[in-house]
Amino acid sequence: MSEQITITRPDDWHLHVRDGDFLQAVLPDTAKQFARAIIMPNLKPPVVTVAQAQSYRDRITAALPKGSSFSPLMTLYLTENTLPEEIVKAKESGFVHAVKYYPAGATTNSDSGVRQWSKVEEVLEAMEQCGLPLLVHGEVTDPAIDVFDRERVFIEDQLIPLILKYPKLKVVLEHITTASAVKFVLTADKNIAATVTAHHLLLNRNALFQGGIRPHHYCLPVLKREKHRQALLDAVASGNNKFFLGTDSAPHPQSLKENACGCAGIYTAHAAMELYAEAFDSIGALDKLEGFASFYGADFYGLARNTSQITLTKQQVKVPSQLQYGSETLIPMRAGEFLVWSFNHES
Ligand code: NCD
Ligand code: ZN
Repeated sequence: MSEQITITRPDDWHLHVRDGDFLQAVLPDTAKQFARAIIMPNLKPPVVTVAQAQSYRDRITAALPKGSSFSPLMTLYLTENTLPEEIVKAKESGFVHAVKYYPAGATTNSDSGVRQWSKVEEVLEAMEQCGLPLLVHGEVTDPAIDVFDRERVFIEDQLIPLILKYPKLKVVLEHITTASAVKFVLTADKNIAATVTAHHLLLNRNALFQGGIRPHHYCLPVLKREKHRQALLDAVASGNNKFFLGTDSAPHPQSLKENACGCAGIYTAHAAMELYAEAFDSIGALDKLEGFASFYGADFYGLARNTSQITLTKQQVKVPSQLQYGSETLIPMRAGEFLVWSFNHES
C-alpha cells in the first residue's frame, strides 16, 4: 500500500488567476484542490475599487467548473490614489479580504504600485482600524541593490519602520524567500505573518542555471541560496502558525517566458498540494502540512476553517510537458517530469 495522507481541504492565500481565456484555463486547477484562494489584483488595469473586485469575482465564479464550491477571496491593489473610504467599503463588502501592496515597478503589472509610503498614510490607518490585512510584496526596486538582497533590504529599510508606525496593522509578507524574512516574522507581533510558496521550498537559485538558463524557474522574489531554502523549510516544519500556504502560482504564456526579457512567475496550481507534500515529506514534516495548508491562513484572516478533506498518495505521476492556456501554451512546474505525490481526485 502506498503511503497516504488525508487532511482538511486547504486554501491558497496568494494566487494569480488572470482574466478571460487565461482565467478559464487555470482556475479549474486551483478549484479542484483548494476551497478558497486570495486572488491577486495585478490585472491590467489593476483591481483598485470594490466595484472592480466585485465584477472580477463574478468573472471568476462564472469560470468555475460546474458543481465547484470554490470561493474566490478578493483583494484591492493599493495605489497612491486609493481613498480611505474605499477601505471602509472593502471591509463592509464582506468579499474583499485584503489590500495588496506592490512597490511600483517591482514585478508583473506593478506600475500602478506605491512609490512613497507617505502617500498612503490615511489608507493604512483605515486598514489598521478596520482590520483589513496589507499583503506585501517585499522587495525594494532600487536597481543599485543586488537582486538577491532586495527582500532583506526591504525588510530592514521599509517594513520594520512600517510596522512600528502601524503596530496594529495586519501584515502578510508574501512569498518569503530568505532567512531574514523568517527571522523578521518570528520576532514580530502576532499580527505579522507570511506565505511560503512550494517552489521556494523545493528549489534554490541553482535551478535557474541548471545546464543552461531556465526561464520557467524565474519568479519574483527570485530563488535564493540553499541556506535560505533551508530556513524556509525550518520555518514551516516548526508548525508555527505565522507561516501559511500561498502558492503564488503565476501563469504566463510560454512565449513570454521563453523570451529575451522573460516574465517572472512560476505556474504551480496544476500540482500545488503534491509539491507542498513533497517539500514537507523531504524533511519528515508531513504532520505539519495540515496546519500550514488548511488552518493557519483561515485563522489569520478570521475565517472559518474548511470541513471537507483531501487525500494525497505517495505515488509518482508525470506532469504534462505543456498545458493549454487560451490560444497559448503554458509550461507548468516539473513539465515532462515526475511528481512524488499525487492528488486523489475522487476525494
Ligand atoms: C507574479 C505575476 O506574474 O503576477 N510574478 C511572480 O514572479 N511572482 C507577480 C508577483 O507576485 O510578484
Ligand atoms: Zn504573486
